[in-house]
Amino acid sequence: MLPTAELHIHIEGTLEPEMLVGLARRNGVALPTSDLDELRAKYSFADLQSFLDLYYDNLPVLRTSQDFYDLTSAYLDRAGRGGVRRAEIFFDPQVHLRNDVPLAAIFDGITSALGDSDISAELILCFVRDLGPDAAMETLRMALPFRDRFIGVGLDSAEVGFPPAPFKDVYELAAAEGLHRVAHAGEEGDPEYVRQALDVLGVERIDHGIRAMEDPELVARLRDEQVPLTVCPLSNVALRAIDRLSEHVLPKMLDEGLLACVNSDDPAYFGGYLDDNFAALRSELGMTEQQFATLARNSFDASFATAGQKAAWK
Ligand code: ADE
Ligand code: ZN
Repeated sequence: MLPTAELHIHIEGTLEPEMLVGLARRNGVALPTSDLDELRAKYSFADLQSFLDLYYDNLPVLRTSQDFYDLTSAYLDRAGRGGVRRAEIFFDPQVHLRNDVPLAAIFDGITSALGDSDISAELILCFVRDLGPDAAMETLRMALPFRDRFIGVGLDSAEVGFPPAPFKDVYELAAAEGLHRVAHAGEEGDPEYVRQALDVLGVERIDHGIRAMEDPELVARLRDEQVPLTVCPLSNVALRAIDRLSEHVLPKMLDEGLLACVNSDDPAYFGGYLDDNFAALRSELGMTEQQFATLARNSFDASFATAGQKAAWK
């Protein structure tokens, strides 16, 4: 299995139907159905929002630090079997706070699972962009007492209509705290979202970024500045950002000299983990081992690991 870093993975998006049903039982949370086939049948999406609706509906089953521990351990076990050596994991604290889960329970559960794993893993706190910049600022301030438990901030959830620029102040505070900064941009949003994330938020990586390929000037900039792009091929097909995998822009990104890498985003919902993404890229796009080696190298280069760690993995 090709050793890789996974830099775009939402821990909540690793909630497999079996664990969803198990946690609902354990915590006495009602689900519309506990039938696994019926649950899986819902995992079919028209766009990002239709996915987010189901993703948020499922999250009230996560209640205790043990739940977060179990979720994170299951992901790390599965990812490790697929070649992942380094994981930089997103989580959405605002959603869990809204479900009355204390921030300490979220951090305790996730970070103890990270500590128990052989994979080098860190946490990135994401702001839910459709809840707005004031809520993001309040969340970052609440999280600062846990500053040593996460390495960066990100911006996720509904993109179109929620551009990056209004989050300038919260990203400035994150920078002042020495946190890394990333943001989802150019998943459904046009190239202007990518430009704002770079110019206004000062992000070090773009999550997705596929629509940047529509703008040759932006492509040249991404190449010249070697801005990492965490691309999620199976996610893009599942959410219909791209019609079929055979039309994915990833090979073109590599041809253009962009620092793109492959990631699974929400593997429980989109048909697979990192190794499943690579397998699909091989069978449906005809990507080669040489391209995979470039993607794996890019993933370590794009990670926030230390130079020593990167040298050991590559
Ligand atoms: N939250 C979880 N997955 C996401 C995605 N692909 N885009 C935006 N927000 C998300
Ligand atoms: Zn994502």
